[in-house]
Amino acid sequence: MKILSFANQKGGEGKSALTKLAAGALSMAPFNLKVLVIDADTQGSIIAHRNRDIATLGEDYEFPYAVEFSFPDKLPELITKLKKEREYDIIFVDMPGRGYGDDINTLLSCLDVAIVPIAKGDEDADASLDFLENLKRHNEVRVRAKYPKLELYILYNKFDNTSNAKASVEIFEAIKEDFGITKQILFLPLREDFQNYSPKTNTSILLELKGKKGHKEDTYEAFYEICKFIKKRII
Ligand SMILES: Nc1ncnc2c1ncn2[C@@H]1O[C@H](COP(=O)(O)OP(=O)(O)O)[C@@H](O)[C@H]1O
Ligand SMILES: [Mg+2]
Repeated sequence: MKILSFANQKGGEGKSALTKLAAGALSMAPFNLKVLVIDADTQGSIIAHRNRDIATLGEDYEFPYAVEFSFPDKLPELITKLKKEREYDIIFVDMPGRGYGDDINTLLSCLDVAIVPIAKGDEDADASLDFLENLKRHNEVRVRAKYPKLELYILYNKFDNTSNAKASVEIFEAIKEDFGITKQILFLPLREDFQNYSPKTNTSILLELKGKKGHKEDTYEAFYEICKFIKKRII
């Protein structure tokens, strides 16, 4: 069992959307993994979606993946319990956008893998750099404590052919090894259907895509390579 997070202290990079997409795709064929999403963001967008779905579909509806909420400071306790129970193959933690504060090491200490989504734009680059610094410091603590390092990946999100996006990739590619990122880099395109995963939408993607023939398959198709990578190389 591995604990993964799409993590970045910057909001709007795609953490929650990618969490829902990955959890959805990995829990369905051909992967069929047992997946839990822990919503540790006190804004609670993922748990709010799930609660709305339960209200609409009923308590007995079989969702492809499970969702639980945890306050950030309660996360270590919850993860310890889940590791003992061994019910899930993979657990995603949806992180808060801001205000990690002193909690950052507590939150990061619960993870095996952090995939850092970086969207194009200067503001995104600055905040993402700060976050990579935090990850680097966290891994230094892990090394001193003889604790396995947090495995790090960058996922360039909302990637398109604009010079803005390409410049962003160039910046991070030039410096990534300074932050201990030597592994494969992942890309996701800017896609209109991914915007449906917004925290502001009234329903979860599951409901939105219901009945729209072809849409769901196509959405997950775009995520297939990332999921194959997660299945083969990470868990
Ligand atoms: N690859 C993508 N293409 C298009 N829209 C995306 C993509 N990734 C994320 N989004 C959208 O960007 C917005 C911010 O994403 P969100 O997951 O809420 O970010 P975070 O959790 O990091 O704050 C949402 O509306 C989401 O649906
Ligand atoms: Mg979010």
